[in-house]
Amino acid sequence: MVRCKQLLAAFVTLSIASRGMVNAMELNIGDAKSVRNAARTVAYNMMTYYHGNESGQIPGKLPGTWWEGGAMFMTLIQYWHWTGDTSYNEVTSQGMLWQRGKDDFFPKNDSSFLGNDDQIFWGLAAMTAAELNFPEEKSYPSWLSLAQGVFNTQVRRWDMATCGGGLRWQIFPYQAGYTMKNAISNGGLFQLAARLGRYTKNETYINWAEKIWDWSATTPLLKTSDWTIADSTGIEADCKDHGDMQWTYNYGTYLSGAAYMYNLTNGHTKWKTAIDNCLGTTFRTFFPDQFGGQIMSEVSCEPWMICDRNQDCFKGFLSSWLTFMSTIVPYTAPAIMPKIQQSAIAAARQCSGGPSGTQCGRRWHQNEWDGSASLEADMSALSIISSAMVGFRDKPHPLTHETGGTSKSNPNAGAHEDIRPQQVRDITLGDQAAAWILTLIVLVPWLSLFAWLIV
Ligand SMILES: *[C@@H]1O[C@H](CO)[C@@H](O)[C@H](O)[C@H]1NC(C)=O
Ligand SMILES: *[C@@H]1O[C@H](CO)[C@@H](O)[C@H](O)[C@H]1NC(C)=O
Ligand SMILES: *[C@@H]1O[C@H](CO)[C@@H](O)[C@H](O)[C@H]1NC(C)=O
Ligand SMILES: *[C@@H]1O[C@H](CO)[C@@H](O)[C@H](O)[C@H]1NC(C)=O
Repeated sequence: MVRCKQLLAAFVTLSIASRGMVNAMELNIGDAKSVRNAARTVAYNMMTYYHGNESGQIPGKLPGTWWEGGAMFMTLIQYWHWTGDTSYNEVTSQGMLWQRGKDDFFPKNDSSFLGNDDQIFWGLAAMTAAELNFPEEKSYPSWLSLAQGVFNTQVRRWDMATCGGGLRWQIFPYQAGYTMKNAISNGGLFQLAARLGRYTKNETYINWAEKIWDWSATTPLLKTSDWTIADSTGIEADCKDHGDMQWTYNYGTYLSGAAYMYNLTNGHTKWKTAIDNCLGTTFRTFFPDQFGGQIMSEVSCEPWMICDRNQDCFKGFLSSWLTFMSTIVPYTAPAIMPKIQQSAIAAARQCSGGPSGTQCGRRWHQNEWDGSASLEADMSALSIISSAMVGFRDKPHPLTHETGGTSKSNPNAGAHEDIRPQQVRDITLGDQAAAWILTLIVLVPWLSLFAWLIV
C-alpha cells in the first residue's frame, strides 16, 4: 500500500514534470544537430517581431528602434555562419542594403537622432559579413566598404576640443548625451578599426585602433589600474567623472578589439596584458559565482528585472565577441569555451515561456522561465546558442584578405562631405517654432482667462 502510494506520487510528479517539459527546448551541447535545432527555433521566434520585408514596411527597420536592426542582422549573419541555415540571408541583405544611407549607415530618415553607438552596430554587422564571407549582392557596395564607410564618418567626429580626444556619445548638439563620451561609442570604433586593420592590413586603421585605445585609457572608460570599464564620462569634468554602471557589451567591445589587435600584431604584450586583465574582470563581474561562475548575467539590471530593451541585447554581444576571440586568441579558448557552452545550455532552458513554450526570458541562470519575453531576449539567446557551435567548426574564422576574405575594399566609402551643419540649423529652427507654438497653446487660454477675470 505504502509502496503503491509512493509509486502513484512518483507517477504524478513525472507526468507533471513531463507536461511542463513538452515544449521546452532540448539542447544537448555535445550534439551539433541539437544545438542547431535550438538556434533555429529561437531565430524563428525572433523573426516574428520583424516585418520590414512585408509590403508597405521599411526594410531593416524595427518598431521603435533603429540601432537594433543592425544588431539583429549581425546576429543573423553569425547564426548563418555557425549553423549553415540560409533562411534569413535574403532579409538580412535587403535590410542592411536599404539602411546603408550614403554607404555609411547614416540614413536620412533616422540620422538626426542617432548616436555614434547606434551607427557603429550597423558597421560591425557589415564587418562581420565581410569577415565571414556572407554573400554579397552584385551591383551593390561590398560589406567591407560599408564598414569602411562607418569608420570614415566616425573618425571625422573625433573630438579634440574636449578631453584631449574621444568620440562623443551623441552626434548633434541638440541631443541629450552630446556632452558625454561613452564606452560603447569609443570601444565600438576601436573594435571596428582593429577589425578593418586585421582584414586589410591598412596602417590607417591600425593606428586609429591604437589611438582610440590609448585615449580611452586616459579616462575612466578604460581604467587600466583595475581593468574596469565605466559606461560614460562627461566633458564638463574633463572626462574625469564616471557613470559606473557595469555592462557586458562595454567589456565585450574593448576585449574584442584587443583580440583583433593581438592577432594582427602576432601576440604583442600590450594586447596580451589587456586581454588577460580585462578577461579577468569580465569573468568575475558577469559570470557570478552565485550561479556557478559559468553563466552570464547582466548584473546591473537582471537581479531586479529592470533591463530595458537595449540592455536586453547586451549579453548577446559579449557572447559572440568572446566566441570569436577564442578563435583568434586561441590560448583563451579553454577559459572561454565552458562559459559559452554552459551559458548556452542555461539560455536554452530559459527559452521555455509563452504560448509556444519556447519564448526566451532574460535570466539565463534561472531554471524556470522568468516571465519576460522580447525580441531582444530572443536575440541574446540566439547569439549564445549559435556561438556554442564553435566547438563543431574548425574552418578559420574570422577571415582576412590574406586568408580568403573576398569583400572588396573601398577606403573612400562614406568620405562625402558632412551633412551636419545644415541639419543642425533646420532642426534648431524647427524646434524654436515648435517651442513658440507650445508657448502660445499654453499662454492663450491663460491670457483669455485672465482677461475674463479682469472684465
Ligand atoms: C519575410 O521574411 C520571413 C522570414 O523572416 C519570411 O518567412 C516571409 O515569407 C517574408 N515575407 C515576405 C513578404 O517576403
Ligand atoms: C524613409 O522613409 C520613407 C517614408 O516612410 C520610406 O519610404 C523609406 O523606405 C525610408 N527609408 C529608409 C532608409 O528608412
Ligand atoms: C590569429 O588567428 C588565427 C585564426 O584566424 C590563428 O590561427 C592564429 O594562431 C592567431 N594568431 C595568434 C598570434 O594567436
Ligand atoms: C588606407 O586607408 C586610408 C584611409 O581610409 C586610405 O586613404 C588609403 O588609401 C588606404 N590605403 C590603401 C593601400 O588602401
